[in-house]
Amino acid sequence: MRLDKYLTAVTDLSRAESKKILKFNRVTVDGARVTDPRTHVEESAEVAIDGEVLRAATARYFMLHKPLGYVSATKDREHLTVLELFDEDNLDQLHIAGRLDIDTTGLLLLTDDGQWSHRVTSPNRDCQKTYLLETADPITDEAVVKIEQGIHLDNEKRPTKPAQMEVVDVQTARLTISEGKYHQVKRMLAAVGNKVEMLHRERIGHIVLDEDLMPGEYRALTPEEVASL
Ligand code: URA
Repeated sequence: MRLDKYLTAVTDLSRAESKKILKFNRVTVDGARVTDPRTHVEESAEVAIDGEVLRAATARYFMLHKPLGYVSATKDREHLTVLELFDEDNLDQLHIAGRLDIDTTGLLLLTDDGQWSHRVTSPNRDCQKTYLLETADPITDEAVVKIEQGIHLDNEKRPTKPAQMEVVDVQTARLTISEGKYHQVKRMLAAVGNKVEMLHRERIGHIVLDEDLMPGEYRALTPEEVASL
């Protein structure tokens, strides 16, 4: 979409006013100052006026307590998808901000705001995610040290970023990571010779799974939750 049109769509500025603030060098797109109203803006771009990031007024943001057995996809031939748990219009416009495996439960965020979901998933954003996990074998001190320092996983160029692991019980821990590599938590535990038997996401950034939501239930995020990411 053209930048001036975008500004008109997500603020209450008129097209003429949008052009004016562009001319006065007050707008950035992904951190770079832009003055040309014809500039093309991607859905995932971060547009700001005077340093304040804009969001589409009509955007929707939900948290779902993902149950077991549902895939984090919008379409799937074999399995139920998490979208089937939603009773909302225009479901095809929603996308998942940070997937969970079919056998993982817990906090899943869905939105139609590409810029916002980029903040959750972009590796450069260091958005922290906390998981509660149970393992097949006892969790050793050595495993905790390795996981916290960063582990080289198969087929990855770089080791995982430093993480925090709090052992809750012999085979239970709370792990906070700031990336979202494919099957990351399961692969981290496998790399220290253990196996994840249960995985549940409790938190993404400052957004905590609402304890009033039963598995399969969802609710809209509050404006404070949306703004916190
Ligand atoms: N890490 C995993 O291994 N699986 C998930 O679903 C989420 C993080």
